[in-house]
Amino acid sequence: MRSSLDRIDIERSKFKKTQRLNKTSRLERLETIMSLSSILVPTTPFEGQKPGTSGLRKKVKVFMEKNYTENFVQCILNALGAKVKGATLVVGGDGRYFSKQAVNIIIRIAAANGVAKLIIGERGILSTPAVSTLIRTHKVLGGIVLTASHNPGGIRHDFGIKFNIENGGPAPDSLTDAVYELTKTITQYKFTPDLDCEFDKKGVQTFNVDGSEFVVEVVDSSEDYVALMKEIFDFGKLKELIRGDGKRPPFQVLIDSMNGVTGVYVTRIFVEELGASPDNNVRRIIPLDNFGEIHPDPNLTYAKDLVDRVKEDTTYDFGAAFDGDGDRNMIIGKNAFFVTPSDSLAVIANNLQCIPYFQKRGVHGFARSMPTAAAVDRVAAKLGMEMFEVPTGWKYFGNLMDAGRLSLCGEESFGTGSDHIREKDGIWAVLAWLSIIAHKNMSVEDILTEHWKIYGRNYFTRYDYEECNTEDANRMMEHLEKLIANSSFVGRTLTSGGKSYTVKIADNFSYIDPIDKSCAKNQGIRVLFEDGSRVIYRLSGTGSTGATIRLYIDSYEKDNVTADAQVMLKPLVEVGLEISQLKKFTGRDQPTVIT
Ligand code: G1P
Ligand code: ZN
Repeated sequence: MRSSLDRIDIERSKFKKTQRLNKTSRLERLETIMSLSSILVPTTPFEGQKPGTSGLRKKVKVFMEKNYTENFVQCILNALGAKVKGATLVVGGDGRYFSKQAVNIIIRIAAANGVAKLIIGERGILSTPAVSTLIRTHKVLGGIVLTASHNPGGIRHDFGIKFNIENGGPAPDSLTDAVYELTKTITQYKFTPDLDCEFDKKGVQTFNVDGSEFVVEVVDSSEDYVALMKEIFDFGKLKELIRGDGKRPPFQVLIDSMNGVTGVYVTRIFVEELGASPDNNVRRIIPLDNFGEIHPDPNLTYAKDLVDRVKEDTTYDFGAAFDGDGDRNMIIGKNAFFVTPSDSLAVIANNLQCIPYFQKRGVHGFARSMPTAAAVDRVAAKLGMEMFEVPTGWKYFGNLMDAGRLSLCGEESFGTGSDHIREKDGIWAVLAWLSIIAHKNMSVEDILTEHWKIYGRNYFTRYDYEECNTEDANRMMEHLEKLIANSSFVGRTLTSGGKSYTVKIADNFSYIDPIDKSCAKNQGIRVLFEDGSRVIYRLSGTGSTGATIRLYIDSYEKDNVTADAQVMLKPLVEVGLEISQLKKFTGRDQPTVIT
């Protein structure tokens, strides 16, 4: 019997001969002659391949371990079952270190498992919103997203793999749980070792694997996404805003891709379509595989560089930043006036009529994740709109959108999006804000102040304690569980900075999906006070080292709407720390990040 290496040599010599005879391109020739066989590779399970809030995230060196990535990809396909045969999948990610290796592994495993076609972004590059878009426009079974989102990248940092289902959204818990179970018992994966496929340039390549056709279509990373944005927004109007229109001077924006994947989309949309200046209106737009050694997370700590630029240069009217894979956004106005994501959601909700997509389709309900401040709830109440509170993580919005009951949603963690796709969408959020600004002809700060005058203000802050010792963090959560289970906790009054808060309700948040009735438990400890203020405790499900404790603080003021949020919330933060005994359990005096 011939070995596969012999076979490929024969194929290659046939290929050279045909190439001499016929001067068609290499890609076209490969279509007809590459005939390959798959093999079964024995493997053993790895511990801890449990997808978190948004996929499996680990250090790059973990993904590089022999068979680690292969095992996980095979388990995704196994969990999908018979549907995989003949299916099409989208593959791409934020281009972080190890992406290309992972794409190659996926190609070889997918082909061996009978997948009929992969749609891959050029160079393996696709933002998370672009993956969601492609899954939907091509109506395929799903997509494999290669990203650890806002976690740092590069050989010493994080990589991640996440599966999105056919609606374009993150896999539900039932599927990720099934994948995890399979990772515990996997004994072999299917592989096509000789499949060499290029994905640097647009084009279609066809192979014959085990007698069946296997197609790889490499697509432009931004084409479908840009087309979708053009359907949603009025690009003519946005261009007038950015370029100025004779009556108004140019509205000066500074859009920061933080060396992440959005650089590709920012160039296409803001520079090429909307006429923004490549020198003054955009920055850090070349995607780098280590994000230039920064933490690609758009918040006041990690996007400080942008905040400082906008503060120093008062010609800027607006600033925005995105995370590594392009689903998060941060919005700031002139002088770096900060818009909390919870407020951003509420303002967009209140102004959806400025966006053609919603004019055409109407608005059907709002939602936010549980820790997100309730500013949007007030807009929903005023507009008579259905309102949902779901656990943390975008996967919980998908069913409601599919059922036509949800148009706009968001999370306090810099995620905003609509039912145009099934992921949060950073660029969409910025275009939404610019549409509102163009329509109202007001500054960011004025829009917020007007909003608070109508609705009152939810002051909100989040304290993150990153990379705590996991056991310490677990002990703190156990302490909280015990505390809230004690019947005397409700009714207790806690005082700090001259303010008193009486506990009204305390629980561990659980959620029953209104559509499929699935239940998500233990989604964060909530302490709700008589005056409507809230303190929430969660452990992050996206970190790759130790445990990250998140403390969310939310307090509503009807009239006192222009105070400094950190000053305003200090007493409630103290109460939150007192209840949790965070310092005692973790030894931490200060959070790593305050947003
Ligand atoms: C974090 C955010 C959450 C978001 C997720 C993915 O998850 O808190 O809102 O959906 O990243 O971007 P966490 O680390 O808190 O589990
Ligand atoms: Zn992200």
